[in-house]
Amino acid sequence: MPGPIPTPVAPPPDILRCAYMELVVTDLAASRNFYVDVLGLVVTEEDSEAVYLRSIEEFIHHNLVLRRGPVAAVAAFSYRVRSPQELDRAAAFYTELGCEVRRAPEGYTRGIGDSVRVVDPLGFPYEFFYDVEHVERLAWRYDLHTPGALVRLDHFNQVTPDVPRAVKFMEDLGFRVTEDIQDAEGTTYAAWLRRKPTVHDTAMTGGDGPRMHHVAFATHEKHNIIAICDKLGALRLSDRIERGPGRHGVSNAFYLYLRDPDGHRVEIYTQDYWTGDPDNPVVTWDVHDNQRRDWWGNPVVPSWYTEASPVLDLDGVPQPVVARTDTSEMAVTIGADGFSYTRPEDDDALPSWKQGEYKLGHQL
Ligand SMILES: [Fe+2]
Repeated sequence: MPGPIPTPVAPPPDILRCAYMELVVTDLAASRNFYVDVLGLVVTEEDSEAVYLRSIEEFIHHNLVLRRGPVAAVAAFSYRVRSPQELDRAAAFYTELGCEVRRAPEGYTRGIGDSVRVVDPLGFPYEFFYDVEHVERLAWRYDLHTPGALVRLDHFNQVTPDVPRAVKFMEDLGFRVTEDIQDAEGTTYAAWLRRKPTVHDTAMTGGDGPRMHHVAFATHEKHNIIAICDKLGALRLSDRIERGPGRHGVSNAFYLYLRDPDGHRVEIYTQDYWTGDPDNPVVTWDVHDNQRRDWWGNPVVPSWYTEASPVLDLDGVPQPVVARTDTSEMAVTIGADGFSYTRPEDDDALPSWKQGEYKLGHQL
């Protein structure tokens, strides 16, 4: 495995929040149907090559770009910074690390001004921008809201082989850890990192990477997520539901995981907690705690652990994937070698009828 990423002398850019993801999709009409007609994202602008979508409370041009392309992948994890000057800092920070850095005064996508794109030391395509076209914030347009309205972009989730290495780099970039999953042997399986004062702007999930695990949009309430499930059932699209709905242990949020027509994973997420104090306590979960991923103890499906989207370099070429060498969370919690408990003080693992649900091939 590669060694630690050095801390640059150059200060990191002051990042405000995750702002949008650029997804490459193979069937633009099918993806537009899923994100607009089914999930209700708002079209800001579109042409034959791309659709620019935003959530109900957003005032910047977009939170999601669907771009037609040959391979389903992620072209950019894009973050807004505090001022135009922060772009110089971003360029200097990544240049010092030897990363590929490109700058486009007109921006790389419609609605976005001067921006910097990099391939970061973990292999992910990151973008930073400040200048952006403002559009109508539809928060008060209740005549347009649907029962499952997506109100904000909440976070990204990235798959990377070495989570501690990724966390150290993200801390150098100015992120703070809010929660993580570890075991008694010192292996870290995942970590949640924030700039805005929620549980995260992105998470690092241990696995073969770099890959994109999911992009998450927030609803106002739990019932909005139930409404999305009901709508998917009514449309005979229940096979878009991969996992949930449920309550996370990590983040305490209510969740639902969907797969789009290309298999890109989308989370619908609501009601995590404030993390903005400087002494916000970090929550560490035991990997064997059966309530860490689902507070009600419902099983995590194997596909959720193993499948993720490729990410592209700045020329649009899929990045090579490096295998995780640390223990996998799925291996230590599911199947013959897995062990999970509900009450840490009990000697017994899960009851036999429940253990079976966690074994590969035992899901009905
Ligand atoms: Fe998530």
